[in-house]
Amino acid sequence: MRPGDPARPTVRSSGSLLVDNIGELVTNAFGEGVGGPLGIHRDAALLVEDGLVAWVGPARGAPAADRRVDAAGAAVLPGFVDSHAHLVFAGDRAAEFAARMAGEPYTGGGIRTTVGATRAAPDSELRRNVRRLRDEALRQGTTTIEIKSGYGLTVADEARSLRIAAEFSEDTTFLGAHVVPAEYADRPDDYVGMVCGPMLAAAAPYARWIDVFCERGAFDVDHARAILACGQAAGLGVRVHANQLGPGPGVQLGVELGAASVDHCTHLSDADIDALAATSTGDGATSTVATLLPGAEFSTRSPYPDARRLVDAGVTVALATDCNPGSSYTSSMPFCIALAVREMRMTPAEAVWAATAGGALALRRDDVGVLRPGARADLIVLDAPTHLHLAYRPGVPLIRQVLHNGVPQ
Ligand code: NIG
Ligand code: FE
Repeated sequence: MRPGDPARPTVRSSGSLLVDNIGELVTNAFGEGVGGPLGIHRDAALLVEDGLVAWVGPARGAPAADRRVDAAGAAVLPGFVDSHAHLVFAGDRAAEFAARMAGEPYTGGGIRTTVGATRAAPDSELRRNVRRLRDEALRQGTTTIEIKSGYGLTVADEARSLRIAAEFSEDTTFLGAHVVPAEYADRPDDYVGMVCGPMLAAAAPYARWIDVFCERGAFDVDHARAILACGQAAGLGVRVHANQLGPGPGVQLGVELGAASVDHCTHLSDADIDALAATSTGDGATSTVATLLPGAEFSTRSPYPDARRLVDAGVTVALATDCNPGSSYTSSMPFCIALAVREMRMTPAEAVWAATAGGALALRRDDVGVLRPGARADLIVLDAPTHLHLAYRPGVPLIRQVLHNGVPQ
C-alpha cells in the first residue's frame, strides 16, 4: 500500500546500460544467490532499461547494451534507503553539540531553537538547505530519503516545509507534533486540536506519512494516538518517534495503529519487543519495522539500542540517519552501518540489509532497496571488493559511483 503517494515525474535514462564486471552483487533478493537475505551473486552483471533493473545474472552471459559501466571487480549494492530524516530547517546547533560533549544532557529542548530559525527563513533558504543535504546524502549512496516537516509548527510553516520536501522526495512526513511550540506551552490540548484540524488539512496534500514525537516532554500517548488517528483518517500512513529518551508507550502505540515503523527504539522492554515481533510477516511487507538511528546515540552520547536483541527476536530492523541539526547531524548511511556493527551488535550483512531492504520496508516500498528485474535501478558501486568494507573501513569514502533511476550521478 502507498498511502498518500503523490504522483511525481521520475527522470529516467533512455537506452540500455550494462553494469558489468561486478565482483560481488548484493541484490537483497531472498532465496537467490548466496549470503542469505543479501542474495549475493559473484562475477555478475546487471542490465538497466528505462531506469529499471531489467536483468541480473552472470557476467559471462550478459546481454549487449547501449552503454557500459565497468565495476572493475568491485561490490555493487542497492542504493541506501534512509527512511528517517529531518531536512527542512534553518540554522545549526553546533554550540549545543559542544555543550553536550562537555557534559550537558540532550533533552530535545533545542528543537524550539531550530523552530525559530526555520520560521524566520525564506523558502529559498529552506529549499537550498534541503538540496544541499539531499545531494550530500546522494554522494554517500543514499538514493531514497524520507523527509519530515516538524520545525515550522504553524499551519503555514508546516505546509511550506512539506511543499518544499515534496520537491525532493516521494516520502514526505507531516511532523506537526514534534514538540508543543512555545506559544501553546500552557494549552497543549489546543495545539493538538490545531494539528488535527487546520494544520493537517494544509499539510496532507504534500505528505505521505504522519509522525509524532511520543515522549515525555513532547506528546503523551493520548495526544499521540489522537493525532495519528486523524492522520490515518486523512489517508496518511503512520510512523512514530518512540522510546528515544526513556521507556514509554510509543512502540506499543505504533503497533496498535499498524505503523509502518517505530523509530529510535533506544529503550525497549521485553513486551515492546514481543509486540514488534508479533507483527512480523514472512516478507516483512506489513510488519511494523524497528528503525534504529545510531547517529542520534552517537551525537547525544547516549547508550545505543541493542539491535541483536531485536534481530534475534525476529523483528524487522531498519537503519536510518535521523539527519537533523540537533540530535544527529549526519547524512551518512555508511557511518550508521559502521556504528550498528560496532556498537549495536549487528553483523555487517545485517546492517547493510537494514540500510537498504529494511529502509524500504519501513517506507512500505517494494521498488527500492532491492536489485531484481522491475525494481528501480538505484545502485552504488563501492571502492571495495565486498559490502563488508562498509563497516570494516569506517569513515572512508567508499562510494565510487551512484546510479539513481539508472542515471549515473
Ligand atoms: O529524531 N526526537 C525528536 N526529534 C529529533 C531531534 C530533533 C532535534 O533535536 O532538533 C530526533 O532525534
Ligand atoms: Fe527523528
